[in-house]
Amino acid sequence: MRDTQILKNRFYELYGAEPEVVSFAPGRVNLIGEHTDYNGGHVFPCALEMGISCAARRRDDEVLRFFSMDIEKAGVIETRLSALCPLSVHRWTAYPEGVIHAIIQAGYDIPCGADFVFCGDIPSGMGLSSSAALEVATGAAVSALFGLGISNTELALIGKSAENGYVGVNCGIMDQFASAMGKKDHAVFLDTATLEYSYAPLELGDAELVIVDSGVKHSLAGSAYNDRRRECEQALDALKSVTKLNALCDLSPDEFERYRDAIGDPVCRKRAKHAVCENARTREALAALDSGELEAFGRLMNESHISLRDDYEVSCPELDILTGLAWSVEGVIGARMTGGGFGGCMIAIVRGDAVDDFTGTVREGYLERTGLEARFITAKPGDGAHIIKD
Ligand code: GLA
Repeated sequence: MRDTQILKNRFYELYGAEPEVVSFAPGRVNLIGEHTDYNGGHVFPCALEMGISCAARRRDDEVLRFFSMDIEKAGVIETRLSALCPLSVHRWTAYPEGVIHAIIQAGYDIPCGADFVFCGDIPSGMGLSSSAALEVATGAAVSALFGLGISNTELALIGKSAENGYVGVNCGIMDQFASAMGKKDHAVFLDTATLEYSYAPLELGDAELVIVDSGVKHSLAGSAYNDRRRECEQALDALKSVTKLNALCDLSPDEFERYRDAIGDPVCRKRAKHAVCENARTREALAALDSGELEAFGRLMNESHISLRDDYEVSCPELDILTGLAWSVEGVIGARMTGGGFGGCMIAIVRGDAVDDFTGTVREGYLERTGLEARFITAKPGDGAHIIKD
């Protein structure tokens, strides 16, 4: 989290008044359970300490003004409450605008406009959910500003509906839920079909969770994410002709084997296989973490990567190189790409005494094979969204 005073000073410089509220919402990293959240499955993310802060103040007209300290040159962007229009905005303010729109759609009263300044420390395009953090931070600030009392679970749902309906990315609930509901030193095990969740202490003994940025920017707004979703829906429709189910992740891997031939299209069959098996892996991963079987957890992470690479086809050469290098280091318990894919980050669980070897091998090998600089971040699970009191 960046210094709140800097944010408040910038707010004053821009708008000539102090903000009334400052909120914070974190980014997230997913341990396992990828592309299961729109297939009725489980996910297992942690909120991070990195995130986005939002300073806000009410106005006496219906104007909305947005400024991001992370994109200074975009300047102050202005719109009006009555001008909010889904799928019409193609700049970064689509996220906060979408949240305000979704709050109104959910039946809350926003009687006047407001001024906003954002600042964060999650680089966008890394796959660590800077957009979910932006949505949830906006929601938390607006809720506090207008005394709406929106719960953190609802903030997550509002963020998702902004992203689906206003921005136009058909994402699941994982990122917004992790950002809203994360807990320091814990991972969140979430059933995305019911929104039942539990916190699992992230006790890694002498091992560390390391995030490695490939330097390849991913873009979910690209059509590939929505394509995967459509392929899963097609597979689900085909399966419905032979068995009763609501979502792909209702099936166990054995049941999937029994019914898989009903899915005529081989690509859709592979996508469905990933969703079903990844969901099973995610449940096993919780049990492994609970019982301190870190090696088993690591194996599941490796299998998850292979499935995302071969069956779901959302990895990319750079993430495969990073993961291959990680797997070659003695003392790496598990490694996989994390997040939506097509770039972004790998996560690895690495024994404390192997971290130097891991960093050296991955940095040098990656540079040699891709010409790119890998960036290493030690992940610390942090708390979910909250209002910052001074
Ligand atoms: C993105 C989406 C999430 C989820 C992941 C893949 O982060 O926003 O909803 O689908 O990809 O697990």
